[in-house]
Amino acid sequence: MCGIVGYIGNKKASDILVSGLKRLEYRGYDSSGIVTINPENNPTLLRSTGKIIELEKLVDQNPTPDQIGIGHTRWATHGAPAERNAHPHRAGDIFLVHNGIIENYKELKSQLSDYEFTSDTDTEVLAALINSFYDPDTTLQSAVTQALNLVHGTYGIAVLSIREPDQIIVARLGSPLLIGVGKDKDNPENIVASDASALLGHTKNAIYLNNGELAIITKTEVKLLDLAAQELTPKVEKITAELAEIQKQGYEHFLLKEIMEQSTTLRSTISGRVDPEKGTMKLGGLNLSDQELRGIKHIVIVGCGTAYYAGMLAAYYIEQVLDDVTTEVVIASEYRYRAFNLPEASVALIVSQSGETADTLACLREIKARGVKTLGIINVVGSTIAREVDGGTYVHAGPEISVASTKAFTSQVATMIMFAGTVAKAKDINPQIIAKFARELSLLPDEIAKTLQTHQPEIQALARHYSKYDHALYLGRDTAYPVALEGALKLKEISYIHAEGYAAGELKHGPFALVDDRFFELFLIIDGWLIDKSLSALQEVKARGGHTVVFTNSTKEIESDHLVRITTQLDLLTPILLNVLQQLFAYYMAVEKGGDVDQPRNLAKSVTVE
Ligand code: G6P
Repeated sequence: MCGIVGYIGNKKASDILVSGLKRLEYRGYDSSGIVTINPENNPTLLRSTGKIIELEKLVDQNPTPDQIGIGHTRWATHGAPAERNAHPHRAGDIFLVHNGIIENYKELKSQLSDYEFTSDTDTEVLAALINSFYDPDTTLQSAVTQALNLVHGTYGIAVLSIREPDQIIVARLGSPLLIGVGKDKDNPENIVASDASALLGHTKNAIYLNNGELAIITKTEVKLLDLAAQELTPKVEKITAELAEIQKQGYEHFLLKEIMEQSTTLRSTISGRVDPEKGTMKLGGLNLSDQELRGIKHIVIVGCGTAYYAGMLAAYYIEQVLDDVTTEVVIASEYRYRAFNLPEASVALIVSQSGETADTLACLREIKARGVKTLGIINVVGSTIAREVDGGTYVHAGPEISVASTKAFTSQVATMIMFAGTVAKAKDINPQIIAKFARELSLLPDEIAKTLQTHQPEIQALARHYSKYDHALYLGRDTAYPVALEGALKLKEISYIHAEGYAAGELKHGPFALVDDRFFELFLIIDGWLIDKSLSALQEVKARGGHTVVFTNSTKEIESDHLVRITTQLDLLTPILLNVLQQLFAYYMAVEKGGDVDQPRNLAKSVTVE
């Protein structure tokens, strides 16, 4: 969703702002803008709808050597994607960019009746409010603080004033903000961003703002305050991501790169945590004593989108490893408003790639408020959820740039299996099952690489065939069921083909009625005790004239229009192999359809509003 960049130093600000905004493009946006200022009080405000390239054209047409500025990518919430609604917003002498939502903006707006608003946004209300406190004898910091004390909602903001052109003020409540501290003492600079990826290449030292903090940033200094203007000591942390990780590295799309690199990223996920020789797994960072681990009786897994489906698949595995524990998997946007009760000795796994998803964060807070321990299964280091959970672990999948989540799913599932293994070890139960999972997890990276490599041409050809269909049904049983849900999500997200995932056993309760020439049915069939049931469902669809494609590891004779047969030494983790294949299938379907693969329409990578 929205992104913020700010720069103060000796370099040309517009270059750094635009390149920073490009790094944030992946989050999803529909308009963008920058403003730069200089001591001569001569601001250059440029805003545009559409892609950053449009903004870049404006920047080229209006060059300025200014060395201080702020920029923004906007994902419309209040008001359509239009130039007048794009940030930065100006009110008097100040310019403001804002991520988040000012919930009481209507009430505040009614108190600013003298102000002539030019946009439909909640952000302009905040700009006008700051401006209303910005008397000639007041500092920008004081005006911003007074305004923020009246605001309800969430914000990450950066503010500039042409009256005090040697500083940027930033503040945070809910929406992430970090300050990249310049590394060259002879050439001082500081950079502001809502996401570490905009800082890479400039610095690896960052101050992450906490909720309720404000910073006054000059070229040489960062002064951190709370909203009562008490000075705080900034803590400089290291950014772990590398620049190369957020580049396409020769791939046509980030999505393809992220699918293909899963064997490598999964290796990072399991490294030092799985020992196939000893048949053990251990996750650190859980902040639970052995006694607490032994006492776990119930696990609730919370997530949205792909993270939710990762939780669903993981629950099948957790139940196998921890046969004395009950599990439930919940969608964060629903659970947060339910009058839920959790039994004693529950723990919550909060699953999120970005660590910023608003609904997931709200659930975390609701669960914590009930006194239940929360553990994060998070990818982005230093993210809000990672900071608020009681304990937890990073999945180490590296930066995921494409909006559709792929490698994070694989690493999340693996991490939750390792969590189950850690708990089972403490409980001293099921060593054979733990050993089997440990062995399969250690084989999985190579199996993923082999599966993708072997079947890529076949999957590409399949996509050429099936991209002409309007609808798809993804069908699976048991562990292939959550994979079917995830596969349908992947297809609809990036190819815009309508797709639904269904439990194959439910076909006769509705979906059969859909089978016609506009549909194809993708069956995920895993060898094992339920295979004959899956094969019957396939037969039933074929008998009704369905157009079927099967992804399977079975060597049985299977009658289908198309069949992708993988060979693997895995058993339990085969669904993950079928999943990477269907990721690739969705990718090539999207390429065939010609959509924006990495930034599908109307979607955002990090959904920081409800
Ligand atoms: C958005 C993304 C999805 C992601 C979901 C949850 O919808 O487009 O790819 O699965 O949010 O995000 P999270 O960062 O919490 O895993």
